[in-house]
Amino acid sequence: MADENCIPINSEVDIVTARQKGREMAAKLGFSSTELTLIATAISEIARNIVEYAREGEISLSIAQLGDKRGIIVIGCDNGPGIPNIKLAMQDGYSTGKSLGLGLPGAKRLMDEFEIVSEVGKGTKVTMKKWVQNHAR
Ligand SMILES: Nc1ncnc2c1ncn2[C@@H]1O[C@H](COP(=O)(O)OP(=O)(O)OP(=O)(O)O)[C@@H](O)[C@H]1O
Ligand SMILES: [Mg+2]
Repeated sequence: MADENCIPINSEVDIVTARQKGREMAAKLGFSSTELTLIATAISEIARNIVEYAREGEISLSIAQLGDKRGIIVIGCDNGPGIPNIKLAMQDGYSTGKSLGLGLPGAKRLMDEFEIVSEVGKGTKVTMKKWVQNHAR
């Protein structure tokens, strides 16, 4: 797809790149400036988790189209250690690192749709979507 953008995630710099590219794509789709910040923040959290827990992976950005609705799809995937208990990982304050444990639940709140698929020893895939609100109707 022409409008798909795949960013390899290996380091802090890549987190910034993913954040910027997501923001650009979302801006083209017509999200408000507040929403651009929310989307960029969600992308940062997922990209940061890849660097912290899986070391490397990728973020892919694409456009969602459902009838006359348009939105952004953000997929973060890695072949890292996986998440043994997703329900636990999605709780505010749960962290296996020495962090706040707000990344995943925070990203879920910032986006409209959020799904994690993870298998221990295989990796993790986070799929998030946000739809453009049509104020013209
Ligand atoms: N890509 C991943 N691979 C393996 N484990 C992950 C991944 N992403 C998250 N996790 C696990 O889920 C837990 C919760 O993630 P979350 O982002 O909510 O919190 P955190 O990264 O620990 O802290 P914060 O994001 O607030 O700095 C992590 O501590 C980690 O154990
Ligand atoms: Mg995190």
